[in-house]
Order: sequence, then structure tokens, then C-alpha cells
Amino acid sequence: MSVNIAIDGPAGAGKSTIAKLLAKRLGYLYVDTGAMYRALALYMVEGSITLSDEEAVVAALPQVRVTLAHLDGEQHVYLNDRDVSKDIRKEEIGNAASAISGYPAVREKLLSLQRDLAKAKDCIMDGRDIGSFVLPDAQVKIYLTASSGTRAKRRYDELAAKGESPDLARIEEDIIKRDEQDKNRSISPLIVADDAVVVDSSELSIDQVVERITEIAAEKGVL
Ligand code: DC
Repeated sequence: MSVNIAIDGPAGAGKSTIAKLLAKRLGYLYVDTGAMYRALALYMVEGSITLSDEEAVVAALPQVRVTLAHLDGEQHVYLNDRDVSKDIRKEEIGNAASAISGYPAVREKLLSLQRDLAKAKDCIMDGRDIGSFVLPDAQVKIYLTASSGTRAKRRYDELAAKGESPDLARIEEDIIKRDEQDKNRSISPLIVADDAVVVDSSELSIDQVVERITEIAAEKGVL
């Protein structure tokens, strides 16, 4: 049986950074489920489909094929065979992904892809509902969080390093709005799974978080 480590938590908690490093350290596959939602959202945004119109979004789903490939340890996401790994990283697409992720048909479309990947390989999968719903039998479940102020500041620094001129207050507002949307949707909301260990990264460095999760995995007997 494959080993599965689920890392859930709100936007900007550092899930992907941590999950990538851990996957490298353990030799596991890294699966970023947010990227799958983002790829679907990109299709809707590019096709000018109104995100609040569930019927229109659901009607478009059969035209969309999301696939993943791992090249040199990096996850690449394809939208109808086009590599959209970079295009999906815009804030607008993250917000759009959050907006459509409450529709049952959207979640259903991605569920089997996620479960099949986890069955086939030892993996670290990050998202919102991995420990609570997608992989209820994952051997290790982490809920990685940080204060909204810390998350906004990290995002601000990332954008500033790319030469952009971000607005910190606006970023924090967006983060809070996205948290609310992700936590309050009726289907697969962001929650702490019963058997998840909460790790608050507000005061921890990336290395410290990686160490902490490695310790938790060792305590659970998977390493
Ligand atoms: O982790 P992220 O920012 O790339 O995710 C983008 C959005 O996708 C997130 O706000 C909610 C949705 N999502 C989800 O509903 N379930 C997941 N397992 C992963 C992401």
C-alpha cells in the first residue's frame, strides 16, 4: 500500500513550499490539488464564463481535461494538453478557483484523479479537503496554518521580489475572503480533520516546519 501524507490548510500557509521540500526529502510524489482547481478556473476565466453561474460552469466541464505530469520532480499541470503551470499562478485565478470549488460537479471531476494518484504512489498531497475527504486513510494528516497577517506578508514579499508593487492591506483582505469562502462552503469545506495534527507556521522558518512534519511522520511510524 502506498504511503500518503495529506497537508491541508488555508491559502498562503506555505503548504506547497513545505510539501515540495518534504517530497524531495522523502522521495515521494508531490501532488498540488489546488493547481487542478486553478486549471479548471483558468478555462472558465479565459472562456469568459461567469463564475457565479453554476450551471454555466458545470456545462463547460466536459470540454475540460486536466492532467498532471511530473518532470524532474516538478509538477506540471495541463489544461487540454497545454502546460498552464505558470498561467494558473495569478491571484485572479486563485480567487476564481476558490469561487468554483464549491460546486459539487467541479469537485467530483477532480476527485478520481486525486485518489488514483495517491493509490499508485507514495505521495504528499496538499489542498483543503485531502485529510478530511479525499484521502481519509492517509497515514499522516497535517493542518498547516498561519495568521492572516503572516500569510499576507509572505505573499507581499513574494510579489515584491518579482518586481511588482503589491498592496499589503488588499492582499490580507483577499486572503480573509478566500478563507471564508473555503471554510464556509457546504461541500468539502476547509476543516481540521479529526486525526490531523495542527502546525502553526507563523513563528517558524520553512526548515523548522519541514522538521516538525518529519517528526510527526516518524511518530506515526511511516518513516
Ligand atoms: O491552494 P490553492 O491556493 O492553489 O487553491 C486554490 C483554490 O482551490 C482554493 O482557494 C480552494 C480550491 N481548492 C479546493 O477547494 N480544494 C482543494 N483540495 C484544493 C484547492
